[in-house]
Amino acid sequence: MIKLAPSILSADFAKLYEDIQQIEKGGAQLLHVDVMDGHFVPNITLGPPIVKSLNDRVQIPLDVHLMIENPDQYIEKFNVSKTEIITVHAEACVHLHRTVEKIKSLGIKAGVALNPATSLDGLDYILDDIDMVLIMTVNPGFGGQSFIPVMYKKINQLKQKIQEKNLSIDIQVDGGINLDNVGQAIDAGANIIVAGSAVFKAEDICEQTKKMLQTMNG
Ligand code: DX5
Ligand code: ZN
Repeated sequence: MIKLAPSILSADFAKLYEDIQQIEKGGAQLLHVDVMDGHFVPNITLGPPIVKSLNDRVQIPLDVHLMIENPDQYIEKFNVSKTEIITVHAEACVHLHRTVEKIKSLGIKAGVALNPATSLDGLDYILDDIDMVLIMTVNPGFGGQSFIPVMYKKINQLKQKIQEKNLSIDIQVDGGINLDNVGQAIDAGANIIVAGSAVFKAEDICEQTKKMLQTMNG
């Protein structure tokens, strides 16, 4: 199934819940929560207290993207009742298999994210154990960057790898996705679409969410 996961990084944090209600009204299926630590990426965003508060109000499941060093130390803190998936970066995990097992032991889905320059080869011995691969289509750290075109090929190669192994793993794309390129990302093989600025910077967030979904399913 194709799903839209708007990233709250581009929302107006002063009226965060209002903005989220708009994407819920528009039909978004997941809420993408970008956690940055100022070490793994050159930006700091939000932490467990905000995720806990969101959990009390938001209707749709949370898709937590950890762009942090030592994620093992914080995984439990991000496992609130609405957390459906926690994604860690392969580049941030010395013992990736252990980290994935830790996430799954909480009864939630485990995702592995790859930066644009990271090869797919590192997935060979972990693919059977995970629920989702996140292909970063910009260098992580900020919203509003441009999609890196060579990533279409990477998405497609991942799709082939998954099919060859007969697995059912979601392919998430994150970074620079908008109405103009989302169709191509889906054609390449992506089925969970993260979009920050393309959704939350729109004049009418609810209408824009609907437009994204229409284009994705068109
Ligand atoms: C980037 C984050 C993304 C970002 C996407 O490091 O992981 O989720 O918020 O924002 P846009 O869609 O504006 O590139
Ligand atoms: Zn993200």
